[in-house]
Amino acid sequence: MAAREPPRHGHGATRLSCPTPATTTTTTSNLCSFLNRAVSAWLVCAVLSLFLFNLLWFYPVDAPWNVVISGEGKRPSMAMAGGGGEEARCDYSEGRWVAAPGRARRYNGTACNVKESERCVGNGRPDTGYLDWRWQPASCELPAFDVAAFVGAARGKHVAFVGDSMARNQAESLVCLLATAFPYTLVYRDPHPRERKFWRWAFPAHNVTVSVYWAPFLARSTGKTDDYRKPRNDVYLGALAERWSADADTMDVVVISQGHWFWIPTVYHDAATGEVVGMHNVTGLKNTGDIGLFAPYRRTLRMALERLVGSGAGNRTRARTVVVATFSPSHFEKAWDDPTTCARTRPYDDGEKEVGADERELRSIAMEEVAAAAARRGAAAGGGESRVEVLDVTKLATMRPDGHPGVYMHRDPFARGVPKRLQVDCLHFCLPGPVDTFNEILLQLLISKRR
Ligand SMILES: *[C@@H]1O[C@H](CO)[C@@H](O)[C@H](O)[C@H]1NC(C)=O
Ligand SMILES: *[C@@H]1O[C@H](CO)[C@@H](O)[C@H](O)[C@H]1NC(C)=O
Ligand SMILES: *[C@@H]1O[C@H](CO)[C@@H](O)[C@H](O)[C@H]1NC(C)=O
Ligand SMILES: *[C@@H]1O[C@H](CO)[C@@H](O)[C@H](O)[C@H]1NC(C)=O
Repeated sequence: MAAREPPRHGHGATRLSCPTPATTTTTTSNLCSFLNRAVSAWLVCAVLSLFLFNLLWFYPVDAPWNVVISGEGKRPSMAMAGGGGEEARCDYSEGRWVAAPGRARRYNGTACNVKESERCVGNGRPDTGYLDWRWQPASCELPAFDVAAFVGAARGKHVAFVGDSMARNQAESLVCLLATAFPYTLVYRDPHPRERKFWRWAFPAHNVTVSVYWAPFLARSTGKTDDYRKPRNDVYLGALAERWSADADTMDVVVISQGHWFWIPTVYHDAATGEVVGMHNVTGLKNTGDIGLFAPYRRTLRMALERLVGSGAGNRTRARTVVVATFSPSHFEKAWDDPTTCARTRPYDDGEKEVGADERELRSIAMEEVAAAAARRGAAAGGGESRVEVLDVTKLATMRPDGHPGVYMHRDPFARGVPKRLQVDCLHFCLPGPVDTFNEILLQLLISKRR
């Protein structure tokens, strides 16, 4: 499957060896492009700038950005409506985007070195209205990101983002938000200049470490996850992906974000025996019926939670906070390579867009598994102190078709006229952009009372 495939759905997106989800969520499309897209002109610039990027580079502290930096050492306020009791916890999941000029101009994504394809401003995106919105929860307020409150809550801690490239998107957002106030060092990065699967940043002033662990199925996998030209994935249920699970004991705050890979053709195996236990969207193999996406999504999430707050957390004595981000959908409205496939410049209005059925189901599974893990956590050493939370972003992300890089995943995409076909990113969010709101909610979860 190395050839470019024609789009299959009006809204759909298929491209270079990339399967198309059957739903409005044509989410796999963009992922593949980051894995195997051939070198193009802008990449040369990217590689050059990365080459120049010293591994222990300090981002100078000057912060003309719209991020709150409250008094150092001040206790973060328990900013829950009604005083922070269990019942009064704010529900951030329902709400609407309201105009707030400049509110989302939180940092300079080029200065904090976000992935080149997410530097919308630096890549020449001309409209900036997508930076003029804030999320207004239905029944409470979501405070602006408060850097001091975050480092207060995360001092001495390792904050790890585990999952697919949406986990990376959110990790880079957090690094940029913190970098508005504090210098960081890049502790390590993938050796390959284009890859951003395993990066770690340190904020030495507060002994905060932020890492990203790319593990799109959370479980061990081979195939496309190693090399996107492969026809499918092989996922080993029962075994977690090596790298993050090896470091799991060091993680104090874990944000899990996955889902986009479950549409891609995949064979699921029992990790112990190697036996095939199911497959999804695979052709040309003796198929025993399609396992779908929901069962493997649930199973892998449950395994991860078991490792972090269940019996698998037995070697750890410090309590931790595990946060499961719900699914953040993509917004391909036409063919994946149609330059206008996500060209909207404003959020959907209230009622203009419903959360899709698959997204709703993935979200429910995340909520159910988190509730089950929270109920089980007492079994583990230290587990009784640990927390499991949902970062429920499905609705707020659904409403932001304007927040993706789109064609501005490329530097000055129309410099030589408007091409008929052009790779477009309608999956990740611009940085700065709506994904910063995920971290505003994450902060509120960290500083709120435990459930
Ligand atoms: C399966 O993948 C194909 C392309 O390989 C795609 O067209 C289809 O939408 C996918 N189906 C599901 C159910 O994910
Ligand atoms: C963002 O940072 C880059 C690199 O530090 C700089 O060249 C650019 O002018 C900055 N952009 C803005 C809008 O400040
Ligand atoms: C940083 O935090 C870790 C983990 O809490 C701790 O072991 C270490 O001593 C701290 N380092 C400094 C310099 O405070
Ligand atoms: C706990 O530590 C032991 C000994 O190092 C190791 O064999 C075991 O796999 C660890 N358990 C987990 C869940 O990491």
